[in-house]
Amino acid sequence: MASLLKKVSNFLRILNYKPSEDSNIQVYESDEVVDYYVQQIPELQPPEAAILDFLKPELGSFRMLDIGIGAGRTTHFFAPRVRHYEGVDYSDSMVSACKKMFAANPYTFAQADVRDLSRYADGEFDLVMFSFNGLDSISPEDRELALTAIRRVTKTGKYFVFSSHNLQALSDHVRYQFWPIHRQILQKNYRSFVLRKLNPPIREMQRQNFARVVDGSHAYQIKNYWVRPAFQVQTLQKYGFIAQNVFDLQGKPVSPQNYDLVTDTWLYYLCVRND
Ligand SMILES: C[S@@+](CC[C@H](N)C(=O)[O-])C[C@H]1O[C@@H](n2cnc3c(N)ncnc32)[C@H](O)[C@@H]1O
Repeated sequence: MASLLKKVSNFLRILNYKPSEDSNIQVYESDEVVDYYVQQIPELQPPEAAILDFLKPELGSFRMLDIGIGAGRTTHFFAPRVRHYEGVDYSDSMVSACKKMFAANPYTFAQADVRDLSRYADGEFDLVMFSFNGLDSISPEDRELALTAIRRVTKTGKYFVFSSHNLQALSDHVRYQFWPIHRQILQKNYRSFVLRKLNPPIREMQRQNFARVVDGSHAYQIKNYWVRPAFQVQTLQKYGFIAQNVFDLQGKPVSPQNYDLVTDTWLYYLCVRND
């Protein structure tokens, strides 16, 4: 009985919660979320592995800036392969977790917000990465600040890698399924109901090029930016980046003709600073 009451009160709390980008940092500072990342088994997502493979011939000469490192999942794979590795996160707790985990390694970790990379010189890095949708935590206006800052610290002709939620995947996330009836389907329907309740009408969001979505991550506490791939690629050009390759979640390149068709929940963008 007590556990049922707890579930109901949790449900009501979620429905009344109003996440904003400004509160995302508190979520990433919380012990619960830091522990979640610390306990993850370090492995690369297939598109990250494909990008690592693509960059491998040059990686040994690179100075790399890894932004939004969390508990250092990508550090395990990229840091040992580059000439110099710096990891930053705006969450002090995540930075502390990385310093502890990699205490024996010659890597640098610091607290920094992607919107202000003034601690770094122009063109200081050959590879700037913001993995696993961290860039989506900030508002569209601040995303512009972030892209400007990232471009400045990236060497001309070198790389910026990031991932972003795909707006074309949103309808799958909120779709109700009525058959067959089993536990997982009921859970998915519960999630669809909550997401529909917490967001503006889904159809309205899908008509846009991007939308800010409470997508269920970290117990519905995070509001993320979801974008159409074609619009993302076009916007990158405005900030001096060419998307050399877009990767789906299997690590396969998505051809430009398929940008409007791909429905993976997020995609990886391998970009080159082109000026
Ligand atoms: C979804 S987690 C991914 C963590 C890690 N990259 C991984 O793949 O396991 C996003 C990370 O980005 C960080 N982040 C979000 N917005 C940021 C910002 N404006 N500047 C720096 N870090 C940020 C968060 O604190 C969080 O650690």
